[in-house]
Amino acid sequence: MTNLKGKTALVTGASRGIGRASALALAKLGAQVLIHYGSAAKEAEEVVAEIRKSDGKADAIAADLAAADGPHKLARQVRSIVGDRLDILVANAGVAKSASIEETTVEDFDRLFAVNVRAPFFLVQQLLPIMHEGSSIVLLSSLAAHAVVGSLPAYAATKGAIDTLVKHFSSALGARGIRVNAVAPGVVATDMSSFTKTNEGRDYALGLQTFKRIAQADDVGDAIAFLASSEARWITGDTIHVDGGSKL
Ligand SMILES: NC(=O)c1ccc[n+]([C@@H]2O[C@H](COP(=O)([O-])OP(=O)(O)OC[C@H]3O[C@@H](n4cnc5c(N)ncnc54)[C@H](OP(=O)(O)O)[C@@H]3O)[C@@H](O)[C@H]2O)c1
Repeated sequence: MTNLKGKTALVTGASRGIGRASALALAKLGAQVLIHYGSAAKEAEEVVAEIRKSDGKADAIAADLAAADGPHKLARQVRSIVGDRLDILVANAGVAKSASIEETTVEDFDRLFAVNVRAPFFLVQQLLPIMHEGSSIVLLSSLAAHAVVGSLPAYAATKGAIDTLVKHFSSALGARGIRVNAVAPGVVATDMSSFTKTNEGRDYALGLQTFKRIAQADDVGDAIAFLASSEARWITGDTIHVDGGSKL
């Protein structure tokens, strides 16, 4: 895949899971990567150390994306490190909560929308001034936006909102040569889908897919790196299913 040497990237929620895998994939292709985290400072520093060990460039930056001004604070930190040029934004940080309609509280609902929808929206808004022709934005959708899996109505709605934003963002930014896409993972073995560690959870996940193994974070991270690269230069406004053939 294209060498990303000289490119700058921000990956939110890169301390763990899919964000971490995306950051490592981008760094492997040569990009300088900003490793954003919420509270897992130690894990984020480990990702930075891993990238630097292979002569890559990385820095960790913290911001609470549940806070209304979190994206604005994060964008200021990004600009203080990369200056006026951001090539790749992966808005990956997210939260999930399994709860039925009856069990979902207003607080849960607001938090899900704050982290999963409001934060990516305002992060894009705040970073647009330093994005340019050839920049790529990747958002995180989910299988849950397109199929009923588990009991996740509020979470699923946040991911449906992401699919809508992809269309509007890509339409608005195409004339500037900025691409906007999303990936929609199925079940991936991360902290968010820790149910895959039980036999019952594993069987449930495998029952959704045509591929009979559980996805690892790098199965999605590599697809995100592809979308960020110039090999994907003609892809915009799309949500790519990265789910091992789930719910076919
Ligand atoms: N895993 C799956 O099965 C799956 C399936 C479909 C879609 N997705 C989507 O993929 C993305 C990544 O999921 P994952 O499974 O990798 O999740 P994960 O392992 O739980 O990691 C979540 C990441 O988001 C960050 N984060 C959460 N709340 C935050 C906040 N308030 N402020 C700042 N950062 C915050 C965390 O930072 P800290 O570590 O610092 O707390 C962490 O780095 C999410 O958008 C998720 O909805 C996941």
